[in-house]
Amino acid sequence: MTGSKELKDGSSENAPLVFIGGGNMAAALITGCVAKRFVEKDRVVISVRTEKSAEKWRQKGYVNVFTNTLEMLEKYPTAIYIICVKPQIFNEVVSSWPVNSRPKFIVSVMAGVPLPTLSAKLPFVSGNTTIIRMMPSVASSIGAAATTMCYEKNDKIENQDAYIKYAREFAECIGTVEIIPERCFNPAMAIGASSPAWTFMYIESLADGAVAQGLGRAEAKRIAAQAVLGAAQMLLNSESGFDIEKQHFGWLKDQVCSPGGTTIEGVRALEKHGFRSAVIEAVSAASKKADDMAKTAK
Ligand SMILES: NC(=O)c1ccc[n+]([C@@H]2O[C@H](COP(=O)([O-])OP(=O)(O)OC[C@H]3O[C@@H](n4cnc5c(N)ncnc54)[C@H](OP(=O)(O)O)[C@@H]3O)[C@@H](O)[C@H]2O)c1
Repeated sequence: MTGSKELKDGSSENAPLVFIGGGNMAAALITGCVAKRFVEKDRVVISVRTEKSAEKWRQKGYVNVFTNTLEMLEKYPTAIYIICVKPQIFNEVVSSWPVNSRPKFIVSVMAGVPLPTLSAKLPFVSGNTTIIRMMPSVASSIGAAATTMCYEKNDKIENQDAYIKYAREFAECIGTVEIIPERCFNPAMAIGASSPAWTFMYIESLADGAVAQGLGRAEAKRIAAQAVLGAAQMLLNSESGFDIEKQHFGWLKDQVCSPGGTTIEGVRALEKHGFRSAVIEAVSAASKKADDMAKTAK
């Protein structure tokens, strides 16, 4: 086997990556980690619900594809499991999870299902098993997600550091990763996973504004999207003179606003219409919704 990343937990064999659910999020993760040579296709195992989805995976060269999750879990009792089903399907999956399963560790990408709920639902594996919550975004499909990860540190779990390192490298195949405490997971999810939708709205609004002033739609869309990409790159790339660790975002904004110029007029209009407050409220609303979902994910 060439090119695949080893899990350095002292075991002689590299455990397979077993994906429960093979939809959009699993596809982004699998495509990313195979493209980055993190894992070879033959070490990827996938379960889906329908034969149609299974056939799609087989056509892409994946041979270990199942339409029966129980059969898959029984065949791979020692593996790294990545739960990629919708939260409402999770109960069904758990009910068929074999009690003799010995996971290396478990990753859940399900929105709104906190670690204590995952542990409570997987009592036969959770005691000595690290469970990791991971929240990628739609941008994972192009390797540009801002993924957040959390887990409970447990010194009694042998090799936990090796598992976390491996999970981090796995997630880095689809973008950047921040490990945060679970109490901050929902606000991080709001800005990491929900905000792409709001940014699309912002870009659309920029384009609408220019179209209203006579610019063609196609040009307006391209200019608006590139302007947002360039601005984000300036924040992340220190060659712009900006240090994201030390400087306030307003410093760069001030560089663009000439006294008496056009940009500061736009800033004034945005402030007048509550732009920053609207964004802060959106983050708060998404985060609170995730809190509510966690309460009902019993
Ligand atoms: N999409 C995102 O941007 C995003 C971002 C962050 C987190 N997430 C989380 O990722 C999870 C999956 O979302 P998704 O967008 O990938 O959903 P999706 O595209 O609808 O995929 C769901 C997959 O689950 C499979 N499935 C259904 N029942 C199953 C069962 N009993 N056993 C095994 N597989 C089963 C489906 O199989 P079939 O294909 O045969 O129907 C499908 O492949 C969700 O919990 C979501 O909260 C998604």
